[in-house]
Amino acid sequence: MSIKVNGDEITFSEKIFIVSKTDTKGKITYGNDAFIEISGYKEEELIGAPHNILRHPDMPKVVFKMLWDRAQKGQEIFAYVKNRAKDGKYYWVHAYITPVLDVESKRIIGYHSVRRSPSREALKIVEPLYQKMLQAERTGGMDASARVLDETLKSLKVTYDKFILSFE
Ligand SMILES: Cc1cc2nc3c(=O)[nH]c(=O)nc-3n(C[C@H](O)[C@H](O)[C@H](O)COP(=O)(O)O)c2cc1C
Repeated sequence: MSIKVNGDEITFSEKIFIVSKTDTKGKITYGNDAFIEISGYKEEELIGAPHNILRHPDMPKVVFKMLWDRAQKGQEIFAYVKNRAKDGKYYWVHAYITPVLDVESKRIIGYHSVRRSPSREALKIVEPLYQKMLQAERTGGMDASARVLDETLKSLKVTYDKFILSFE
């Protein structure tokens, strides 16, 4: 598998898909080989663990709130996420999260995430934006950081979805 380490960053080939599945609470129920290899955890450490096992402190909380709000409504969401591997290194992903429905009851029975390597162009915008959001969060909480995101989107005249899918 084509995985490289540059300083503290782990990068991986654009051909790689990192896949995981969770139950309705966000506990990991499945991870593919790429997920296991890049995160640095053993499969048995990941299965049953909460997905925040990968949470990086540089990520604004409000991104996860948006992710969960959407997913719990049965909607899909794309997001850029900085993850923390077991050894403390980080890796950026462009994640696509979807709810998994029971065929008969149509109830949400879990979630599915497919992630690819983000473009460096996207990170040039997303990284400073997340830093600004995180700073706002530290002083004004999630409302303040949501405002920073809203204002950025307004100034660019795009919706969140358009913004996230505008790179590549
Ligand atoms: C399918 C799915 C995939 C997720 N993938 C990640 C991930 O790769 N990294 C991450 O930090 N959080 C991920 N989350 C979000 C976590 O469940 C959690 O909300 C987040 O890490 C924030 O944790 P905290 O509330 O303890 O701060 C995922 C959630 C779901 C439902």
